[in-house]
Amino acid sequence: MGSSSFNAEEHKSMLRSYFNGQGYQRWASIYGSDKLSTVRNTVREGHAVMMDKAFGWIEQLKLPKDSLILDAGCGTGLFTIRIAKAGYRVKAADIASQMVEKTKTDATAAGVADKIEFEVNSIESVSGSFDAVVCFDVLIHYPSEGFAHAFANLASLTNGPVIFTYAPYNRILAFQHWLGGFFPKKERRTTIQMIRDSEMEKAMEAAGMRVEKREKISFGFYHTMLMHASHK
Ligand SMILES: C[S@@+](CC[C@H](N)C(=O)[O-])C[C@H]1O[C@@H](n2cnc3c(N)ncnc32)[C@H](O)[C@@H]1O
Repeated sequence: MGSSSFNAEEHKSMLRSYFNGQGYQRWASIYGSDKLSTVRNTVREGHAVMMDKAFGWIEQLKLPKDSLILDAGCGTGLFTIRIAKAGYRVKAADIASQMVEKTKTDATAAGVADKIEFEVNSIESVSGSFDAVVCFDVLIHYPSEGFAHAFANLASLTNGPVIFTYAPYNRILAFQHWLGGFFPKKERRTTIQMIRDSEMEKAMEAAGMRVEKREKISFGFYHTMLMHASHK
């Protein structure tokens, strides 16, 4: 797909409507406890591995326990609730109101709603000042131009780390995606946008960030790169 065709507003509104409808059902079941197909179960398990790793990275920062963390694109609130239970204060923001509502319901049930500020907002527009920013499996839906713009906003909200995931470019996966376009299924998978190393370097440079550490997580059909970036 030609990069010049990217329209930020159109892209956001497509994501908003997907994650408030069909996407909400799909991801809420993956992040919940419903019985899943073998393929989706590997996505649930891979995601859980990523979350455990990311939680470990947050704990290694040794931030004071009432530090404020932004969970950008919080989804159903799995990470938000986990870090709130660990004592951090959290701003949970998501473009889809259904996701934010689910986060609120589950946080209330878990007894940690008072540690969380809930907000329907995009990763490009969310504002504030945070001790750390996390953003998991959201930037995977952005092509490089949108990625760099959204990442720069997240980086501007903290002097601390931005811990996030993205989908690194992989030739075989790129071919499968291309091929997938010829065989539309009734329930299409969410488009994953792969980012080349050179594009990631440019986005980091533009945001004044550098990579502290990275870890590839591949589990069945779940493939992502977990990154810890900090200011230069
Ligand atoms: C695959 S889910 C990941 C949810 C959560 N971060 C997790 O890992 O459990 C992607 C989430 O990103 C949200 N999202 C997509 N585009 C967004 C944007 N531009 N700003 C904020 N949230 C966005 C979706 O509504 C959805 O909740």
